[in-house]
This record gives sequence, C-alpha cells and structure tokens, in this order.
Amino acid sequence: MRISFFDTHRFDQKAFTKANAQFGFEINYLETRLNEKTASLAQNSTVVCIFVNDHVNEKCIKTLAQLGVKLIALRSAGFNNVDLKAATNAGILVVRVPAYSPHAVAEFATGMLLTLSRNIHRAYYRVRELNFSLDGLVGMNLYQKKIGVLGTGKIGQIFAEIMAAFGCIVLVCDQVEDRNLIKNPNIKYADLNSICREADVISLHLPLTPQTHHIINQEKIALMKNGVIIINTGRGALIDSKALIAGLKSEKIGGAALDVYEEEENIFFQDLSNKILQDDQFARLLSFPNVLITSHQAFLTKESLEIIAMTTLKNIGQFKKNGKVDQERVVSVNYLQTP
Ligand code: NAI
Repeated sequence: MRISFFDTHRFDQKAFTKANAQFGFEINYLETRLNEKTASLAQNSTVVCIFVNDHVNEKCIKTLAQLGVKLIALRSAGFNNVDLKAATNAGILVVRVPAYSPHAVAEFATGMLLTLSRNIHRAYYRVRELNFSLDGLVGMNLYQKKIGVLGTGKIGQIFAEIMAAFGCIVLVCDQVEDRNLIKNPNIKYADLNSICREADVISLHLPLTPQTHHIINQEKIALMKNGVIIINTGRGALIDSKALIAGLKSEKIGGAALDVYEEEENIFFQDLSNKILQDDQFARLLSFPNVLITSHQAFLTKESLEIIAMTTLKNIGQFKKNGKVDQERVVSVNYLQTP
C-alpha cells in the first residue's frame, strides 16, 4: 500500500521511517502541503498522510478520489482542515491520532504561561547582550491566581491539574462536565462569561468548530479583567486576532502566548527568514513585547512523535487488512464502513 506523505519535516520522516520498519509500507515523502493544487501528487497512492496545515477541501477530495485514494490519515488530533462531508461522499475514510501526548501540549502551555508571566523571553535576550538590568521585568505570581481553562478534554484536564498544583484557583468550562476533575478542591466548573470576568489567565484547549470559532472575541475580551493573560495552544481561529490586537493595544490584555494563529497555514512550519512577511496582522502581533508566539510546536516531543508515527501506521495497517479502522480513530461523518 503506497502512502503519499505530505508536508514532511525531518523530524517526522525520522519517526515514521523508524516505525515503518514494523510495517514495510511504501512511503513517498513530499515536502509540499496537500491542497487542491497539489492533490495530483498523490497519484498511485491509496493513502494520503497529512498534518494540520494541509488544506483538504472539496476540490482536493475530488482529485484524490479520482486518483483512487481511499484513506486520509491525519497525523494530528485536530481535523478542522478536512472537509469531512466531501470525504464521506467520495467514499474516503478519514482517520486521526486522537491522543498522542496530551501532557506534551499541557506542559508547553504551562511553559508559555511562565515565560510570559515572568518575562523570561525578554530576560533571555537581555542577558545575552550583557544587559543585567531588571527594570521592566517585574512579573506576577501564579499562586492563588484564578486560571480559566476552556475545554476540559484530554489536554485541558492536565493543564487544569498542573495549575491546581501551582496553588491556583482553576475555573474550567466545557459542554460536558467531568465529575472526576472536580474531585480536586482547587478546580471548579464555571460558565464562559464568569471565567472571562474572573480569570487572571485564560487558556484555550477547545477544538475548532463552528461553535468555537472566535469564541474569544471583542465582546468576551470586554468582559475580561484588566491585564488578563491569554494562552492559546488550541487552534488559531478560536481567537479573533483583530480583537486580540485591539485588546493588547488598549492594555486590557496583559499578555498573549500563542502557539497557533488563525492564518498560520501560510506562515508556520517554514523558514521565511529571507522573505518579506505579508501578513500585517501577524507582524503587529510580533511587535508586542508581551506576546509570545511559537510555530505550532506544543505537540513536538520525541514521545509524541513516536506515538503519532506508530498510531498512524497502525491505522493504515488496519485499513489495509480489512478496510476498517477502530471507530475511536475515525472522524468521517456517518462513514459506512465496508466489511
Ligand atoms: P479533546 O477532544 O479531548 O477535548 C476537547 C474538549 O472541548 C472536549 O471536552 C469537548 O467537550 C470540549 N468542547 C468542544 N466543543 C465545545 C464547545 N463548543 N463548548 C465547550 N466545550 C467544547 O481534545 P484535546 O486532545 O484536549 O485537544 C484540544 C485541542 O487542542 C485539539 O482539538 C487541537 O485543536 C488542539 N491541539 C493542539 C496541539 C498543538 O500542538 N498546539 C496538539 C494537539 C491538539
């Protein structure tokens, strides 16, 4: 079974080549991203393997189906970049890696918060230039601060527990409440507006859906405490970037740590250091001393890469064997599995 592997980076080629020793698939590693213009590169492949910034719309699916592709194997948990309805209609199964290392993302969110709340990102550069002054580096304790966590799935729960262990008061919000989580006396459920009003820090761990798109917008920012810190390791479009910039300019927002950005598809995972940045909104975000941006890196640990490679190849292996993949890793809507 031939796999066209799009948006390849050295780190995932290394992990997949090692894991594939057990499976022996023919993998065609391509640096290009999958989209409607590049879909024809999947010729002679039954499977396309993609990541978060491949853009699989209806046109792209149509081309893939014409080429005989039967399976889209996401190497991610999120699947908002695939038109699931079009895939279902074309008879293409879409599978993912639902959990690789939620600790990797929760720990990274914690690191971003500490970096920002203690100005570590600014101190790092100062000291390298032999500037040992402390002026402008006054931070904020996290102990006893209120931390809002939106989304208490796998990652949000771990982040909430880490914050509770810091001695914070953690207010969490989800459409489904998990009674086990609130056995921890420092963690309580609250509604979104209460979290916006009360939290000193708000961290986003929601999937991107029509309901969560721009869940942090001008109206919600207006409710927030002055100086609130916002952490986003979920998906860029959970936040309306325009409203975020306005909040940072007015100093309503005291800091933002962003591992994701709504227009990241054209920026992240590439070396653009010799190019002119075309996204003015992103350039404005980069100009704030209290904004920390990383390039969708929260997942990137050796443990995650091993699990991603192994689970993806297992998904493909199951599909090859009997045309089915365990339901928990299937994301296509109403996909009728063939025997
Ligand atoms: P999960 O599926 O375990 O949890 C998501 C939670 O959000 C669920 O509890 C669900 O009930 C809740 N939710 C969904 N829609 C909601 C709504 N409208 N209102 C309130 N709650 C809602 O997902 P997990 O593994 O915790 O990941 C969360 C997100 O983190 C992923 O969807 C993905 O977008 C992002 N992610 C980012 C990574 C990175 O490297 N930056 C890596 C992995 C995931």
